Amino acid sequence: MSKKTIHPAKTVAGGVAPPGDKSISHRYAMLAGIAEGTSELSNFALAADCHSTLGCMKALGAAVKVQKTVVRVTGHGLHGLQSSWRALDAGNSGTTIRLLSGILAGQSFATKIAGDDSLNRRPMKRILTPLREMGAQIAAREDNFAPLEIRGGKLHGIHYEMPMASAQVKSAVLLAGLFAEGETTVTEPARTRDHTELALEEFGAPIERHGRTTRLRSNGIKLTGRKAEVPGDLSSAVFFIAAASLFPDSTLHMQGVGLNPTRTAILDVFARMGASIQMLSLRSAQGEVIGDLAVRGAQLKGAVIERAEIPLVIDELPMLAALGPFTEEGVEIRDAAELRVKESDRIAALAENLRRMGAKVEERPDGLKVQGRATGKLRGAEIQPYGDHRIAMAFAVAALGAEGATTIRDAECAGVSYPAFYDDLARVTES
Ligand code: S3P
Repeated sequence: MSKKTIHPAKTVAGGVAPPGDKSISHRYAMLAGIAEGTSELSNFALAADCHSTLGCMKALGAAVKVQKTVVRVTGHGLHGLQSSWRALDAGNSGTTIRLLSGILAGQSFATKIAGDDSLNRRPMKRILTPLREMGAQIAAREDNFAPLEIRGGKLHGIHYEMPMASAQVKSAVLLAGLFAEGETTVTEPARTRDHTELALEEFGAPIERHGRTTRLRSNGIKLTGRKAEVPGDLSSAVFFIAAASLFPDSTLHMQGVGLNPTRTAILDVFARMGASIQMLSLRSAQGEVIGDLAVRGAQLKGAVIERAEIPLVIDELPMLAALGPFTEEGVEIRDAAELRVKESDRIAALAENLRRMGAKVEERPDGLKVQGRATGKLRGAEIQPYGDHRIAMAFAVAALGAEGATTIRDAECAGVSYPAFYDDLARVTES
């Protein structure tokens, strides 16, 4: 297990192009694998998670060629997948197992899918319920956890009123809907990222959207391979926005960042905190918005993040919490029990590591309250990320503003979403 030492910095300057968006890369890879013909996906995420998805699609009979960030996937149409002789390995990736389960539910063969220890501890009941309602037979350990054994078959469309705001659940149902007889509709209780809807539309599926309801008519669907550019990952860019915001003299330019409105709530939170972020050169690709970000140093105020905003910034909460001690009034996160079932128990991991650095933290069942600057400067410490990429990266950033060096244990877990993270961070920090 590698350790990484991060030294305090004085400023952040220069440019970073964040890696391809993880959520979008998963979706393009899966849809390309069930489309007809070859798709050429550029700026594909180098993230280990997305390579888990590629591995699964390959095992299911799609041809996959990777040349750095350009990935070519050749599918044989909606009914062109073949059974895999071995269990599929989703690695650390919740998106891989949950979304792919939707596709596997519609196959005429049975598939076993599992992941690493962390993934095998994460709840799957949320997808089992609607997929079973559509007609799939799925066995799960304790009826909630991977390994999953999915016996697909004839599915029928349903109208699913989602009990929770989860893009992964919405996507699993819509992807199963591709194979179902009749219409599939999903209504979400609060808005979540809509990359699946946009990608389905781009690959040729008949999607209709009205408010929080999405409808897919499945009869006679034909998905066609295509060229697609993956936008940069805003959730990865956030670590650099945070780093730049720590120092008054910072000037950072971030290129080609995905700015889909269902992902940009984090920029609203940063704006509320007093961060200086400008969006430049907006354009669109496959229905997704892409632009550059210019970030300057700021005096951060603090924030309370709660209710419907939580699902929209769920992946950015570790970084926001770790910024707490650098803000005037601290950072409070409420209504976010979901954080406990991410790649790690992120509430516990944040509280423990913030305290190691000398912060004052109140841990709650569904969130945490981190005291602001008045508690004093953070001090370098040894960080235990519990194998969670976003915990490792959040504390690498906090370490830049601490007194003394910080060591991140098991630092390479950042590669789950951002393999070049430490190199990019070193390139733009000046000490
Ligand atoms: C994702 C959705 C979110 C997010 C995850 C990626 C996706 O999970 O936390 O990192 O790609 O759909 P939920 O939909 O479970 O909230």
